[in-house]
Amino acid sequence: MKKKVLLMGASGSGKTSMRSLIFSNNPASLTSRLGATIDVEQNHVRFLGDLILNLWDCGGQDAFMDSYLSIQQSTIFQHVGVMIYVFEVETRNMEKDLDYYMACLGALQKYSPNAAVFLLVHKMDLAKGGSKAETLARKTKELKEASGDVEITVFGTSIYDESLYNAWSRIVHILIPNASVLSRHLAKLASACSATEVVLFERTTFLVIATSTLPRPPHVAMASTSDPSPTKTNGSVSATNHSNYETEEDPDPHKMALTRYERTSELIKAFKYSCARVREEFHTLEMELPEFTAVLDELTRNTYVLIVVHDPTIGMSVLHISLPLKSKMRH
Ligand code: GTP
Repeated sequence: MKKKVLLMGASGSGKTSMRSLIFSNNPASLTSRLGATIDVEQNHVRFLGDLILNLWDCGGQDAFMDSYLSIQQSTIFQHVGVMIYVFEVETRNMEKDLDYYMACLGALQKYSPNAAVFLLVHKMDLAKGGSKAETLARKTKELKEASGDVEITVFGTSIYDESLYNAWSRIVHILIPNASVLSRHLAKLASACSATEVVLFERTTFLVIATSTLPRPPHVAMASTSDPSPTKTNGSVSATNHSNYETEEDPDPHKMALTRYERTSELIKAFKYSCARVREEFHTLEMELPEFTAVLDELTRNTYVLIVVHDPTIGMSVLHISLPLKSKMRH
């Protein structure tokens, strides 16, 4: 199953940087060496076995954007599952960015009216003035107005923290056709190990795929289980704002747990990168502390699982005995 993902936005907004962090395991510090993308760079990323993300990184220079909106319009905007549009939080020309965005949204509506739209207010680490939560709220309002009656989801992101994993985990989640089945299997695994938390990560990207303890995020309801393609609620006019930058003032325990998992993604990716530099391969991670025991291990060919147990009577060896259950899990 192939899902086309459009990654668009002004030149220099950070599209290739985020792609290289999430899908190529490169650290944030190396992104400054990336050159401008010429036209469209297409990548096929195998994700959870049968799901292939067909990622179109569209160079954002004006000449390319003009071409996408004219002679290339049908090629670029047809069969799109998700459009991710990136805005720099401190852009030099928001008016121009919005003009291009609205033109792209119009083309998307014409050729792929059922595509889901995610907007990233990126480089949040550079946001000036006021709190980051306020800045994001202001930007979200502006983007909602520009989107008219199209349903959008907005995230504040930065390559320097877990917010990028937060956004991309939610984005790929709506493309995974069997996400609810995965969650059910995880719940069984959690109960077999008396685990407090079980989290499933995709192997290459380390994006959070499913968790045993938390309900699915609200906008995941956009994708129905029988029809895996992202759908929109007819006639509903809404903009959802999900971001780690909200959590500063919002102690919602579900959100905070997700932030922890996405922080885990970020840390493990950094650790894997360090391992690669000394020509070692990352396999498993074990932690045995007085408060809890945690194991991060391969679950299937495409996934890793993190099991956290707070019961002091359950030790590492029991968790490893439980992991053969993994053979029963589907890819
Ligand atoms: P085009 O290929 O021309 O469309 O640009 P692009 O959107 O792919 O931009 P690119 O990823 O090449 O990033 C441009 C610059 O932004 C690089 O120097 C990155 O290091 C920097 N950058 C990317 N993300 C962030 C971020 O979250 N924060 C900060 N401070 N800089 C970032």
